[in-house]
Amino acid sequence: MRSTLIVPALVSLVASQLIELGDIANLDPVLVSAPLDVVQDTPPDVPAAPIEPITTPPSRVRRQLIQKRDGDCSPQPTGSGPVPSPDTVAAFQSFPTFQALATNAPTPDGYSLVFNNKDGSLSASNYMGLYTLTSYDTLECASKCDQADGCEAFNVYVERDPSVDPNKDRCSNPPSITNYKCTLWGAPVAVEEATNKGQYRDDFQVVIAGSNAYNKASPPNSVTGYNGPTALGGAINAPLNSKGQNTYLGYKFFPFSQSQGYDPQTCANACNLQTAYNSRHPALDGTYQTCVFFNAYVLSQNAIPQGLYCSLYNETWAPSYATNHGQYRGSDRYTVSRSYSYSLSNPPNPSTSTPKPCPSGPVIKNPSFEDGDNNPPTGWTVEADGATYGSTSPGSPNGGNTALAVQLYQRAPDQGTTSSFTLSQTMTTCPGQNYTIALDYRYDLRDADTTNKYCTFAIKYPYKNTFGSVTGQNNVPGETPGEWTFTASSFQSVSTSDKF
Ligand SMILES: *[C@@H]1O[C@H](CO)[C@@H](O)[C@H](O)[C@H]1NC(C)=O
Ligand SMILES: *[C@@H]1O[C@H](CO)[C@@H](O)[C@H](O)[C@H]1NC(C)=O
Repeated sequence: MRSTLIVPALVSLVASQLIELGDIANLDPVLVSAPLDVVQDTPPDVPAAPIEPITTPPSRVRRQLIQKRDGDCSPQPTGSGPVPSPDTVAAFQSFPTFQALATNAPTPDGYSLVFNNKDGSLSASNYMGLYTLTSYDTLECASKCDQADGCEAFNVYVERDPSVDPNKDRCSNPPSITNYKCTLWGAPVAVEEATNKGQYRDDFQVVIAGSNAYNKASPPNSVTGYNGPTALGGAINAPLNSKGQNTYLGYKFFPFSQSQGYDPQTCANACNLQTAYNSRHPALDGTYQTCVFFNAYVLSQNAIPQGLYCSLYNETWAPSYATNHGQYRGSDRYTVSRSYSYSLSNPPNPSTSTPKPCPSGPVIKNPSFEDGDNNPPTGWTVEADGATYGSTSPGSPNGGNTALAVQLYQRAPDQGTTSSFTLSQTMTTCPGQNYTIALDYRYDLRDADTTNKYCTFAIKYPYKNTFGSVTGQNNVPGETPGEWTFTASSFQSVSTSDKF
């Protein structure tokens, strides 16, 4: 029956977009059941029909189920579940163990329970395959669904199967075995579809108990600046890339206990922050790692979601690398769920982002103090603790016509240390390059008594924990007064503005 909607005024504008409810109600969905009494089943991949413009009314096709031929009494793989005693259909259907398995099974993270403890398995659309499990394991079936492209729902149930392949004449009703089954579905399922209650194989009755079904939760939101989400069957387990490089930048874990939910935006923030941090801490050549790809997933311990796990990479990896489906540590079981990847929409071009150009200009400003008798000398910072200084000429024969004369005073013992003088300057350096600072000095002793009278000097770089930190030192007690002496110290620059 076609219903007529009366919408005043706007009818002509919206009429063509109204859903024709009558036609939807009359659609004849193709429902299939997973095969009964098989160990594993992967239906052939039927490519989705290409999308064609609508020209004729759709034809309705029913899938033909092929009748199984009679068995040959061959033994079937042993089931993993207990067989109730007596070995009857009634005992199987009321067996408390199966009810308890279904009722107590954890709902895997990322799925919602559709029905619980039914006596029918699914007859639904888009059957994707069947696995026989060794236990009633909703987490494992969820992982199989995560790994199957397009899986939207799954069904775990207990099946009463014949121990040998029944034959009408020779073994028509053999003892039963109990199998745990897991079936995957490509479309959401409903309780009304728990209708496959079994079948007869000759005189043996295959029946179902403890049937639970779960629909997948909808994918997370997209994230500004990133492509995705791309659904993954597990956590990314990236090998070295084709150049033998490790593209994994590390991970951030956000425990749910800290009022942190499942929001991939959190991982995007971590990825962006990582890039910003790395850009402020570049390598010696000025390059740094950009986080261009992340994998966000829920890590659960013993089926209890623990937190959001973000792994960060400097390259993008395909879903085929999502091969980590969880692991055991001792008796604790860790599982991966709601695993999605996102990749930066506009990753920087590595060739243009790095390396940084080296600054040009003199490395040290006013190196020979030739800028006149300024106080302090141009370009330099001076700390004169009890010392006086001024420009003097001539300078060292190695360069420059001027020098800086510093007069240090010995203090009285009760005044502690002697006087000191420090010159410093921010240099114009190129990260990663090696530099040598050369210093000419001359020590003019004004006092005939040389005992306990000496100068110490050092060339220091403030990166004590960084590559390239060096200290040059020289004691000059016995130097001949008035002779120019030369010392030098090398360092490897870490920035464009190293200080010494
Ligand atoms: C990713 O990191 C590795 C290891 O540090 C590095 O060798 C590689 O060049 C990086 N790749 C990109 C695209 O930055
Ligand atoms: C710079 O010096 C360091 C040692 O301080 C050395 O390992 C490195 O190879 C040098 N680099 C160049 C380009 O000479």
